[in-house]
Amino acid sequence: MKALVVENWGPIPQALKLKELPTPVPGWGEVRVRMLYSPVNPSDLLMIQGKYGKQPKLPCVPGFEGVGVVEEGKGPLAWRVLGKRVAVLNGDSGNWAQEVIIPAIKAVPVPKDIPDEQVASFFVNPASALAMVTRQFHIPKGAWLIQTGASTAVGLMVARLGRKFGFRTLNLVRRKELVDLVQNHGGTHTLVTEGDWQKQAQNLIDSEGVFFGLDCIGGSLGSEVLSLLARKGRLQVYGRLSGQPLPIDPGQLLNGMKRIEGFWLSEWVKDQGKLTMFLLFREIANLLKAGVLTTKTGGIFDLIDWPNALEQAAKPGKDGKILLKLN
Ligand SMILES: NC(=O)c1ccc[n+]([C@@H]2O[C@H](COP(=O)([O-])OP(=O)(O)OC[C@H]3O[C@@H](n4cnc5c(N)ncnc54)[C@H](OP(=O)(O)O)[C@@H]3O)[C@@H](O)[C@H]2O)c1
Repeated sequence: MKALVVENWGPIPQALKLKELPTPVPGWGEVRVRMLYSPVNPSDLLMIQGKYGKQPKLPCVPGFEGVGVVEEGKGPLAWRVLGKRVAVLNGDSGNWAQEVIIPAIKAVPVPKDIPDEQVASFFVNPASALAMVTRQFHIPKGAWLIQTGASTAVGLMVARLGRKFGFRTLNLVRRKELVDLVQNHGGTHTLVTEGDWQKQAQNLIDSEGVFFGLDCIGGSLGSEVLSLLARKGRLQVYGRLSGQPLPIDPGQLLNGMKRIEGFWLSEWVKDQGKLTMFLLFREIANLLKAGVLTTKTGGIFDLIDWPNALEQAAKPGKDGKILLKLN
């Protein structure tokens, strides 16, 4: 079988090689999945470059999620999913291969009426958007949430969750072409982060104040969003797309007793029980069917064409998620 392998962390594409490897064999409690698609997420790109929070051992195969069909498995949990199409949750990465071994419990069967391309991005972004907005924050109906990176796949999910659950979103994007996009996904207001955007934001939220903030950009923008939060406001930081540190003047936290907290899905999952996860998967499937947690596909590339896929995925202005077609 073919797999994309990283032998040394480094720039893309030099860090990766397409290799022929023996088909892996599952152990007890494991399944072998014939992979169909896997998305190229920002976390994959960071990991290949050696900049991710938790790096796997080298050599390694990237790819934290995807969709495939279970072809072989050992043990009762594996027999339950044999022959089924599943979301492949691979917290240790490894999905950019034609055959993948994972613990059977991480092969999640998904209803047949959800297309393969959507199941490919079933977990990382939908679970993060849902957990941040409905488990970490409890946003009352009508309250404001301000978010950076509103045009990313996660940002658009948050805007649609706002429309679904009745909270208002003040969305920040870096280009004016993205304003309509976010509004069409349910954003209440969308501002471009240029000129006097902070004043415009302040005017929009003035009397009510905004208590809930989400930031995936970092740098000065993250800090500006913190300043806009009301007394006892909370900023959840879940990404660092700018690659810049988040400069915080302690006074920003003292005045108004604000809080900054981090969110990382793989850490959050460690604190959840089996039942919570089962209910979360069911809620994601229902919200996918309802069009709330869907991901637009921006292009599908055969595994052999991986350099193009990764180049497109890293390009500014891309229109949707890039998928690798693995079989
Ligand atoms: N903490 C967690 O557990 C967790 C889980 C899931 C995702 N995330 C994070 O969530 C973020 C979004 O992920 P995604 O998969 O939704 O991303 P995505 O759909 O691939 O979107 C990335 C987009 O972000 C925009 N962007 C990049 N740098 C930017 C900057 N400096 N300022 C403003 N916009 C910028 C670009 O849009 P334009 O080029 O069109 O402007 C780019 O196309 C990432 O940081 C990811 O790591 C974190």
